[in-house]
Amino acid sequence: MVNHDCTCKDNPLVPQLCKVIKITQETPDVQTYRVQTLDGKRPFTPMPGQLGMFSLLGVGEAMFSVTAYGEDWIETSIKKTGMLTDAFHEMAEGQQIGVRGPYGNHFPVDPCKGKDLLFIGGGIGLAPVRSFIRYAFAHRADYGKIDILYGSRSPADLVFKEDLFDNWPKEPDTAVHVTVDRGDETWEGNVGMVPGYLEELAFQPVNRKVILCGPPIMIKFTLQSLLKMGFSKEDCITTLEMRMKCGIGKCGRCNIGSKFVCLDGPVFTMAELDELPDEM
Ligand code: FES
Repeated sequence: MVNHDCTCKDNPLVPQLCKVIKITQETPDVQTYRVQTLDGKRPFTPMPGQLGMFSLLGVGEAMFSVTAYGEDWIETSIKKTGMLTDAFHEMAEGQQIGVRGPYGNHFPVDPCKGKDLLFIGGGIGLAPVRSFIRYAFAHRADYGKIDILYGSRSPADLVFKEDLFDNWPKEPDTAVHVTVDRGDETWEGNVGMVPGYLEELAFQPVNRKVILCGPPIMIKFTLQSLLKMGFSKEDCITTLEMRMKCGIGKCGRCNIGSKFVCLDGPVFTMAELDELPDEM
């Protein structure tokens, strides 16, 4: 379901002027920005997995997942990958930016009701997954046991550390499993790639939905492990959020075969992705 329920819906190309009210340095190359409108409101109300278009005046704009929201703010996390994202990283709190959205469909929060949930994130791929994790905690009675498996290259590359090590483990009937590809002298947790750790943890596929996002190579091998463990492709859900460009079916840069990621996704089951041409 595409939801364009935003204040700029009469012209989806006009951003709202917002201010950055908090910047969190997650890792050396990832920052999280909390933004609200100039009159102190939430720019729009996203569902888990939806994206916003964030613009820097005179520099450019790009689409990023909304990773969290509160009563009067939304958050997005941006990794440094080039000129525009470098410019975001040079912002200071109080700076004004343009924001519009939400864009794309969202994670199937209703069909997942009554199920155990296994969230799997790799690197910055935890950002879109985090929005569903927070939603599940806010609607805790609707979901069964929650497991969160997160992996990064090194301890320094772990994002949302406060959530991973402080907030989420305190939630009822919830377990957080963190692994790094390479440890260091401070790291006492698991060392190893996500697919191997996943198999070690031996989750049962019964009445459980899997929500995963991360680098394509991680997704490929994690899916192989999930299938080996007995999960079905229908029960494994991912997002192709990185393919979202204009978000409204205009630029022609997101299509895979006959599907437009921005109009049909970016959230798909692995079974749905199987039906698309192999352009991933
Ligand atoms: S993102 Fe532009 S057409 Fe889909």
